[in-house]
Amino acid sequence: PVVAIVFGGRSSEHAVSCSTAASVLRAIDRDRFDVVPIGIAQDGRWLLMADDPEPLQLTAEHTPSVQGDTTALIPADPGNRELMVFPPDEPPRRLTTVDVVFPLLHGPFGEDGTLQGMLELADTRYVGSGVAASAVMMDKALMKVVFTAAGLPVGRYVVITDKEWRRDKAAALDPIAALGMPVFVKPARAGSSVGVVRVDDPADLEAAIEQARESDPKVLVEAAIDGREVECGVLEGRGADRPRASEIGEITVTGDRHTFYDFEAKYLDDDAQLTCPADLPKSVADEIRELSIKAFDAAGCEGLARVDWFYTTDGRLMLNEINTMPGFTPSSMFPRIWAETGFDYPSLITELITLAME
Ligand code: DAL
Ligand code: MG
Repeated sequence: PVVAIVFGGRSSEHAVSCSTAASVLRAIDRDRFDVVPIGIAQDGRWLLMADDPEPLQLTAEHTPSVQGDTTALIPADPGNRELMVFPPDEPPRRLTTVDVVFPLLHGPFGEDGTLQGMLELADTRYVGSGVAASAVMMDKALMKVVFTAAGLPVGRYVVITDKEWRRDKAAALDPIAALGMPVFVKPARAGSSVGVVRVDDPADLEAAIEQARESDPKVLVEAAIDGREVECGVLEGRGADRPRASEIGEITVTGDRHTFYDFEAKYLDDDAQLTCPADLPKSVADEIRELSIKAFDAAGCEGLARVDWFYTTDGRLMLNEINTMPGFTPSSMFPRIWAETGFDYPSLITELITLAME
């Protein structure tokens, strides 16, 4: 099969997506799949890329980005999976037939149902969740509504919409007092902790909200949860089988450079440690797996998801969020927890593409 690996994109997680693509380009089974790498530049152009992971790797010294000038696009033509190339100053031509698109995109315009909608219109198969689950799981406010309706435990939070903020800041800030301190201020639709600010003093709230609003005018303020950060991978079942849940991974942030698992700790320095399997009582690990599958199903996810939890100091589980296209970078948890569960990196990629082709 021909697999289009799509990466980059217009969101603030552009570089993370490039790094994810670098890992997948290295690991994908070349005997089984023909790969067409397509980058989406930060301005939204779709470009045909060299099949070379090297320049795509995110490091403390190098922030990768999609650049080039050969345009590629999958036409919105139902039943037609031809990949078209639109080189500058030349007539468009057919490149190859695409069997599956692997949207290795994080954040808005990639993980949020917009690209998925385009692929539905084009009648093209793709890896991962469909339009509705992608859209709802991209928005941390809508996500909590779904989790709450499904009876899943979530922390206390306040949503501030753009209009509420512009209408009356004092009224928008008022309900936050009930959350206590510290709180986490987050853009509703972002990822990798971009735009997230920890606030310890109410006097800093307004500035934090303004900062989060630079990523998304819809903002969430969450009460801090005292506990351990643990994550579970879920893979859709084959055929009519139930979803499968992975071993549990745990994140610990060390050193005093970070007050939480922020962007730098995630990708740029060595201050975040991933432990898998996490040192948890078996009953707790089993409960996390069961509830992660419940969350996956409640949200209507397909293909894959990483479900992030807090295991609180007083022994409760609180659902933090679902990522419908979790990172696959060298420092990411998702490939790590599946390796521990019996899917090495290449088999995980093969499984995801196989599920998309079912
Ligand atoms: N949003 C990042 C890529 C993650 O969840 O891994
Ligand atoms: Mg996230």
